[in-house]
Amino acid sequence: MSKEFWDNYHETCEKWVNPDPFLEEFKEDLPAGKAIDLGSSDGANSIYLAQNGWSVVAVDFSSVAIDHLKEESKMKSLPIKTICSSFENLDLGKEKFNLILIGYIHLEEQPRIDFFQLVRSLLEENGAVVYLGCNWESNPKGYDRRFLSPTEFQSYFKDFELIKSASRLDDFNFGKEYECQAFMNILKKK
Ligand SMILES: C[S@@+](CC[C@H](N)C(=O)[O-])C[C@H]1O[C@@H](n2cnc3c(N)ncnc32)[C@H](O)[C@@H]1O
Repeated sequence: MSKEFWDNYHETCEKWVNPDPFLEEFKEDLPAGKAIDLGSSDGANSIYLAQNGWSVVAVDFSSVAIDHLKEESKMKSLPIKTICSSFENLDLGKEKFNLILIGYIHLEEQPRIDFFQLVRSLLEENGAVVYLGCNWESNPKGYDRRFLSPTEFQSYFKDFELIKSASRLDDFNFGKEYECQAFMNILKKK
């Protein structure tokens, strides 16, 4: 989906103000450090992480979403660094992160391969990748091949270990209603 789609979505739809319930589940597994929220949207998850001691960088190519997050983090006096950029053009030099949060980023095949390469390049040696996704296998009616099953997601990270997984049934609206099994996978390099 294009930047224009997402700008329009963030202008016209309700803000995502609640952090994803899955985030509660990794609190005890991962000690706070440096996190990057890739495709942060309005930043509910970034805000949650910052409130829980993480130093956070939030990236999104929608300037509307990034403006919402800037406003909110200023109001709450949270030190979140926001970057308005596409993943393709993201340049963070040599900066690395202890936690990479990927929340419901559904890309076509080639951009996805490039995106997961970016994820690898941003990860600290002992860092964790937290992936929140919609499992398309749970909703063949809403079949959308940009959505991955947990097995498909893990196939991009064969040299990583699955340290936690969880799932729940949820309703999403990314332009169209989509009921599916949401899942969280936490991976660490072996
Ligand atoms: C479904 S929302 C995810 C929201 C958030 N991560 C969460 O878990 O609640 C997808 C977000 O990713 C952003 N996005 C999609 N493709 C992107 C890209 N290529 N570069 C940067 N941001 C992108 C969109 O602007 C949108 O805000």
